[in-house]
Amino acid sequence: MISEIFLTILLIGLIIKAVKRPHNFPPGPRGLPLVGYLPFLSSWDPQYPHRALQKMSKVYGPVTGFYLGTSTMISVCSHEAVKEVMLNENLNGRPHSSITLARNFGENLGIMFIMGQFWQEQRRFTMRHLRDLGFGKTSIEDQMMGEVGDLIKDIENKSQSDKDRVVDLKGIFQVSVVNILWAIIAGERFRRDDPKFQELLTANEQVFRAGDPVRGNIPVPAFILKHSRLVREFIGVKSEMTEPIKKFIQSTIDDHQLSNRSVDEARDFIDFYLNEMKKQKAENPYTTFTNNQLVATITDLFGAGAESTSGSIGFAMIHLIRNQEVQRKMQAELDQVCGEYVPTLNHRSSLPYTEAVLMEAQRCSTIAPFVVPHFAVKETKLQGYTIPKGSIVMLNLDAVLMDDEYWKEPEVFRPERHLNEDGTKVIKSDHFYPFGIGKRMCLGDSLAKNTYFLFTAALIKKFRFEPVQNEPLPTLDPINGFTVGYSGFKAVVVPRS
Ligand code: HEM
Repeated sequence: MISEIFLTILLIGLIIKAVKRPHNFPPGPRGLPLVGYLPFLSSWDPQYPHRALQKMSKVYGPVTGFYLGTSTMISVCSHEAVKEVMLNENLNGRPHSSITLARNFGENLGIMFIMGQFWQEQRRFTMRHLRDLGFGKTSIEDQMMGEVGDLIKDIENKSQSDKDRVVDLKGIFQVSVVNILWAIIAGERFRRDDPKFQELLTANEQVFRAGDPVRGNIPVPAFILKHSRLVREFIGVKSEMTEPIKKFIQSTIDDHQLSNRSVDEARDFIDFYLNEMKKQKAENPYTTFTNNQLVATITDLFGAGAESTSGSIGFAMIHLIRNQEVQRKMQAELDQVCGEYVPTLNHRSSLPYTEAVLMEAQRCSTIAPFVVPHFAVKETKLQGYTIPKGSIVMLNLDAVLMDDEYWKEPEVFRPERHLNEDGTKVIKSDHFYPFGIGKRMCLGDSLAKNTYFLFTAALIKKFRFEPVQNEPLPTLDPINGFTVGYSGFKAVVVPRS
């Protein structure tokens, strides 16, 4: 009898929790006790969670509140609200989700998923030293151009070896991008066909393609995660997938530890970090500079940097294959400004049309439709609503970049929308921020922008890319994941004289 009364009270409590909402909570759909709105989310769009939330916003408004399991979720789908979140310190935390724990030794480490003073200290250190090592500077341009040259040779060989000049471009950009990043982090570069390297790239891609960016935020206790494959698969936690990457990073750190160098000769990011670890160990018993934190930081840089930059190049190439006239115009500009040379960073400011093409590809195919989830560290206001402390805030960048109230015919690929009337200048729009804004903004934006420009411009300058005859055009439908990816594609690649 007592247990029945207890169960009835518990049930009533759960029903009240599912139905009742905090004062001034944003409008949104109600869910069921315990699971919240989880079972119904995909009914809005079975394939893409970011589109599901966009459709929901058409009914409930740009700031929508609902529950997923026991988590309070706030979905944000307009420029004004997204910007307000990015600039609000109280909303600049990160949720501690099952996925982030599974990635990092069961702890919250790295840069992307930590917050507070720990995050400030680690982000500041990382940015300072990555800048010293050439992030966003012309000092690493030679090395980047070396990678561009190798990629051009690789594509040339593949094109020559096929009678119809058909080249499979799947995964081809990732190798070059990772080599640039890895040289800054670890001071070494790989041969393009190194099998160990290829394995690592595949594992990295799988990590980013696995997982659902919304369900992944459901806080599942570590012991359930560890023992239930079903739960792991449902929320997309595949910690075993990060193992090869972590092992690889750890062995590189071990090699650095063994190398016989003096403290003054820091060659790469790992050296700088090991120096700091040594210094802090002597002075600070509570130091946050640890071996596991270094592994997690590199996992973040490697993961965030490789997939997103190569994804952006891949999507730009698909847009250019689908829009042959745009490709011709871009080639005309590149020929006029760069003559017989491969485009360099010096040419960039004289190439407005090329710049507009790159911007338009990022607008139409954002690789981070959900940014990285934000988190309310305090109760705060957003567009007049009260956001409870502990809410997970999903920013829908895709909704901002495809908003038909701001971008006319947003589905149409039209680089001219980023140019002034006579096409001589790029117009900077405050609705265009593919790298985010505010303190959580991407820390690799300058490297990413340079890499994206140098590779895409060089490929279009050196080759003509055409659709393969009698085959469907390469698809722009993204592949889901924490960042979205492009599907592998083939093209007829003809060298330009
Ligand atoms: C085209 C390529 C890239 C795009 C579009 C991109 C976009 C973004 C976006 C939208 C965010 C989240 C901002 C927010 O939460 O408000 C982010 C965060 C981040 N990005 Fe990137 N990114 C790119 C390349 C890179 C590269 C090359 C690196 C590093 C090598 C990198 C490292 C990071 C890190 C560490 C964060 C987390 C920052 C933090 O939480 O403090 N990204 N990026």
